[in-house]
Amino acid sequence: MRALLFAANWKMHIGPQEARTYLSTFLGQYSERPDRQVWFFPPAVSLEAVATIVAKRPDLLAGAQDIYWEPKGAYTGAISGPLAAQAGARATLIGHSERRHVFGETYEQTGKKLAAAVRAGLHPVLCVGETLAQRDAGETLTVVTRQLEAAFGARVEVQATVAYEPVWAIGTGRNATPQDAALVHQAIRGWLNDRQAGETRILYGGSVNVKNASQLLAERELDGVLVGGASLDPKIWAELVRTAAT
Ligand code: 13P
Repeated sequence: MRALLFAANWKMHIGPQEARTYLSTFLGQYSERPDRQVWFFPPAVSLEAVATIVAKRPDLLAGAQDIYWEPKGAYTGAISGPLAAQAGARATLIGHSERRHVFGETYEQTGKKLAAAVRAGLHPVLCVGETLAQRDAGETLTVVTRQLEAAFGARVEVQATVAYEPVWAIGTGRNATPQDAALVHQAIRGWLNDRQAGETRILYGGSVNVKNASQLLAERELDGVLVGGASLDPKIWAELVRTAAT
């Protein structure tokens, strides 16, 4: 059976109180299915609330949106892998496009964060993707490969997930076509296979919604989706997870 991963990135939305209400609605509208897992990436302040609730369901998991690479210390505003794990996270996003482009995260830093995630026992979900200018210049595969090299370094043996999120498709309402995404997914899979990486799921992200999720997931190169906007309403998210690719 093809197992699909539906990951919800709430970005800077949904505080702890709202998260409890959200999950009570979601759980009422989405029953466990053997062919899909649902991962939630709430803001750090909501992590413990989400993790505590989803711990009751084996098909659900909570993760952090970002971690700093040091385990502890005088780093005001940052959270470390061990702190996220203590709050109940079992995974973390690494190198999300907004971390790279809004907060200036460098390729080198994604490598440090990926290593820190592994040390803390968090499953890394590495986000990669090109800007529109890079796509137009025909640099998509070069950029994505550089991002993989910088983040994984010599650690391709680690259990990880890769999310291909073209920057021009994030929050723009303009999703990649299944064929666009498949070409990049094949290149990522090829890069991983060349390095004897373990089984690595490759998700697509960027303007995924209830209407286009099935069409995207009909492309077998996609092992799941990473969703921002359409994951913020629990009823819409439950509908997306329930109805996509059935
Ligand atoms: P949107 O689904 O809002 O385009 O965001 C995608 C994303 O960045 C998920 O990490």
